[in-house]
Amino acid sequence: MRYEVRRTLIAARDIEIRVRELAAVISEDYADRDLLLICVLKGAAIFWADLCRALSIRCQSDFVAMESYGDATVSQEEPRFTKAAGVAISGRDILIVEDIIDTGHTSALLRRLLLTQSPRSLALCAFLDKAERRQVVTPIEYCGFVIPNAFVVGYGLDFAQQYRHLPHIAVLEGTPEG
Ligand code: IMP
Ligand code: MG
Repeated sequence: MRYEVRRTLIAARDIEIRVRELAAVISEDYADRDLLLICVLKGAAIFWADLCRALSIRCQSDFVAMESYGDATVSQEEPRFTKAAGVAISGRDILIVEDIIDTGHTSALLRRLLLTQSPRSLALCAFLDKAERRQVVTPIEYCGFVIPNAFVVGYGLDFAQQYRHLPHIAVLEGTPEG
C-alpha cells in the first residue's frame, strides 16, 4: 500500500475556533480550582499547546505517554504506560488532554491508572472522537470534533511518526501499489 494525504477533514481555521471555544468552557468550569492538565504524548502535544495558551485560568501541566499503535493503523488491545506522570495527582483537579478517542481502550486505562492516585476530580478533553469505533464505554467531558471512521493525521496525529506537523486534520488514504 502507498499512503497519501489528500482530503482535508478539518481546516486549521476551524481548529483554531474550536480550541478557543473549548478553552473558554474549561476556563469557566475550572475557575478557582487546582487544574492539572495531563497531556498524552505524543499525539496531543500540539492540541495541548494551543489549548493551554487559550485558557484564562491558572493551571499546571504534565505529560504521560501510552503505547497502543506502533506503526499500524489499527489499535492493539492493551495500551501501556511508557511514561508516567511526574507530579502528584492526589487531591488535584485532573484534566486529561488526548488527541483522539478511537476504541476507547487507551483513555479507559489512563482513567483507571489516574484514579488509583486519588485525584479530587478527573475529566477528559479529547480533540477528536471517532465515536463509531468505540469498544469500551469511556466518558469524554470536553470534545473538539466527532469524526467519521477514517484514519486521520495532522495537528499532532501521526502515521508512522509522519504528518504530525500538518496544521489541519487530513484523511490518510491507502492505494495498492503497482
Ligand atoms: P484507542 O485506545 O483505540 O482509543 O486509541 C487511541 C490512540 O490511538 C490515540 O491516542 C492515537 O494515538 C491513536 N489513534 C487512533 N485513531 C487514530 C487516527 O485516526 N490517527 C492517528 N492516530 C490514531
Ligand atoms: Mg495518542
